[in-house]
Amino acid sequence: MSTSPAELSALRERILTLKKDLNAIILAHNYQRPEVQDIADITGDSLELSRAAARTDFKVIVFCGVHFMAESASILSPDKTVLLPEIDAGCPMADMVTAEGPRTTKRDLFQELYGITFQFPDTYTIKDIKRQHPGVPVVAYVNTSAAVKAESDICCTSSNVVKVVESLKEDTVICIPDRNLSAFAAKRTKKKVIAWDGFCNVHHVQLSMNDVVQARAGYPKALLVVHPECPPEIQDKADHITSTSGMLTFCRESKEKEFIIGTEEGLLHRLRKENPGKTFHILSRKMVCPNMKRTHLSSVLAAMEKMQYVIKVPDEIRIPAKRALDRMLEIA
Ligand code: 13P
Ligand code: SF4
Repeated sequence: MSTSPAELSALRERILTLKKDLNAIILAHNYQRPEVQDIADITGDSLELSRAAARTDFKVIVFCGVHFMAESASILSPDKTVLLPEIDAGCPMADMVTAEGPRTTKRDLFQELYGITFQFPDTYTIKDIKRQHPGVPVVAYVNTSAAVKAESDICCTSSNVVKVVESLKEDTVICIPDRNLSAFAAKRTKKKVIAWDGFCNVHHVQLSMNDVVQARAGYPKALLVVHPECPPEIQDKADHITSTSGMLTFCRESKEKEFIIGTEEGLLHRLRKENPGKTFHILSRKMVCPNMKRTHLSSVLAAMEKMQYVIKVPDEIRIPAKRALDRMLEIA
């Protein structure tokens, strides 16, 4: 059931009042629903939100995003209370690599529906790949659990992966969990990249070359801008490849007026709001992340009223995970 404008306005008022009472800051990822983005103090990509969480003085961080993002906020700001409004908002790609136990992704389903095979067995963990490649550093995309970060040498986001890989002294690196981000990095460095075989449902599974052909035919004047989580053959057809906030900068600074956007559709809200004279098309209507869309204004309000769901990473994981995140924040 949709919420009426009057109800939305009442929700907003109550959230703003509670925000003051709790001394809270609201962070929202660029893929969140428009009304959630609009109530946030900071909207950004993974790197910007990590930085914001690390430096905030507010007592409570309400993280409108997915689980690994709230975990990163807890790792970086352990003295703050971090709330994730929807506890089931996870990231299937992050679940494709584990520190202990089997991954939860359904390999048979991916094989059957999309013809995607996993190179590694379900029980293969980050510890196994490290054991197989002794002395090779692990670069963990922030889209990983805190436990996986704790086993990694350094983190990266889609906006700094090349810089991070280049910062390491070793000639070979392991990149987890996204095969496409790893391919993106491998193309831009002389180092050997050993890639995990994970992928994003939204950027990998839901997209095909046919979407590119159709969009190019439909909007011949538009520039194609895609996220590095898209498959390499789609990256090769793009005019620019960058993170979500990288797309905001690129489209703002570009002299061109029309863009096809190859990332989750939530980004179009900010693109349109910040560039009223420009036109944006989504590369495929299927580019919707159901986990990012779980959070509504009503969940933000409930989170603040009930102080739920508190995301707290225990110190034995938090401290080594923080080392990997700090190392990234220092160089990026
Ligand atoms: P960004 O860091 O580019 O915002 O990406 C996060 C993400 O989950 C992409 O699917
Ligand atoms: Fe994870 Fe993909 Fe959703 Fe990003 S868009 S949070 S990578 S499932």
